[in-house]
Amino acid sequence: MAETGNKARIGLIGLGVMGANLALNIAEKGFRVAVHNRTPGRIRSLMEGAGELAGHLAPCETLADFVDTLQKPRAIILMIKAGRAVDEQIRALLPHLDKGDILIDGGNADFHDTRRRARELAGKGIDFIGMGVSGGAEGARHGPSIMAGGPVRAWEEVHDVIKAMAARFNGEPCAALVGPDGAGHFVKTVHNGIEYADMQMIAEIYGILRDGEGRSADSIGKLFAEWNDGPLQSYLIEITARVLQTRDPETGQFIVDVIEDRAGQKGTGRWTVIEALKLGQAASAISAAVDARVWSAMKEARKNGESLFPPQKEFAPAILEADMEKALLAARIIGYAQGFSLMRAASDHHEWDMDLAVVARIWRAGCIIRSGLLDEIAVAVREGMPHDQLIFSPALRARLNETRGSLRRVVSSAVLQELQVPAMSAALACFETLRQGRGTANLVQAQRDFFGQHGFERIDGGTDRHGPWV
Ligand SMILES: NC(=O)c1ccc[n+]([C@@H]2O[C@H](COP(=O)([O-])OP(=O)(O)OC[C@H]3O[C@@H](n4cnc5c(N)ncnc54)[C@H](OP(=O)(O)O)[C@@H]3O)[C@@H](O)[C@H]2O)c1
Repeated sequence: MAETGNKARIGLIGLGVMGANLALNIAEKGFRVAVHNRTPGRIRSLMEGAGELAGHLAPCETLADFVDTLQKPRAIILMIKAGRAVDEQIRALLPHLDKGDILIDGGNADFHDTRRRARELAGKGIDFIGMGVSGGAEGARHGPSIMAGGPVRAWEEVHDVIKAMAARFNGEPCAALVGPDGAGHFVKTVHNGIEYADMQMIAEIYGILRDGEGRSADSIGKLFAEWNDGPLQSYLIEITARVLQTRDPETGQFIVDVIEDRAGQKGTGRWTVIEALKLGQAASAISAAVDARVWSAMKEARKNGESLFPPQKEFAPAILEADMEKALLAARIIGYAQGFSLMRAASDHHEWDMDLAVVARIWRAGCIIRSGLLDEIAVAVREGMPHDQLIFSPALRARLNETRGSLRRVVSSAVLQELQVPAMSAALACFETLRQGRGTANLVQAQRDFFGQHGFERIDGGTDRHGPWV
């Protein structure tokens, strides 16, 4: 679309950590951006720090001025706190908008809210794009991964700007329309769920090294740095290595040793698990990671538990570093695989017709879960997921055959040593179950029939669908 006079090509409301960085990113790509924030001080701070990019920014202190500064159809990115704030902001904007204008919510919205907003706004002639953005502040400034959901015509109006600001992998922008209405925010939610699992699994290996082997933070950090040159290469391993080697300026200790072991959560991990349960999918590694954060908050209970149940020493084989590296890779693959199965189920359920190969491609750079493995996953998804299971694809099957023994050894030895590995255990249980043609649900079916006459299917196709219980 051509520039119209000095009007801004796109508008951005919300100049917090993400919004301010995104505004500078878009400006750097040569687009004129109108910027607005509820509290005007943030507009001034952005302009003061924008340097030569200030010429591409149009600061607007009132909504009327902001909307008036935009070329038509107007495209406005909201980068504000998720939830009620988004509804309030939309309500405030609506009187200023015309039919055909486009609103883009770049926050971490619950995709159910996005679907509702898309429906409500469509009734007023406004197109709504729910846009998941991953990459933190650094990504927002220099190129995030972007997962959009919404009408194709709206995407066609804005995709040049969105792709320009996105990260690139081998020159290809990591931004795509993954489906209609809530699809983008759903994919972002699952991305965060996978992120929860990956972070937890890394923390579990850290726990084995710290508590099982008695190693210092920096020596663990160095090991992670080495692993980052191999198949575990990823942003999360890289930052873990750096975090572990960083000292606290106040005490001189390693900073992780002075941080409370209570982790926060804002909801996306929990939403992933809730949606998995609703869709009849198992996201057990992600669920274990969410549970681990819940338990982490129970500091006083855990301290009490430690005194009530002192250790009971058992013999456990030593855990080799090489096994830990491979176990983490196997568990990571299973975490990703659960996320992909969930996206497939959601796409079928909501009729999103989502191309999961595109999702894998746009996660290869810019986002928090970017990793060397994602390139392999992108290939695997493109080649097809037999039975909707990523782990059955030839490339990942080979990876799991190389690493599954290590996952089993690490989990079993950690359990004997009373070291907590909930996410890796969940990943292992999922994997072992998926490779067991005959499970034990026949007994569960018999129990259900015994007490509730729920009936069962017979393996010989026989007609008697109830047991002869007495
Ligand atoms: N931080 C990350 O790494 C990250 C990554 C991906 C996505 N996100 C998502 O991106 C969104 C913004 O996150 P952030 O980290 O940039 O947040 P932030 O730094 O806390 O900034 C919050 C922004 O929301 C605005 N806001 C809050 N309540 C509002 C309301 N009722 N009406 C209008 N504006 C309101 C604030 O305006 P005031 O200045 O007036 O308070 C501020 O501009 C969130 O949905 C977040 O989940 C964050």
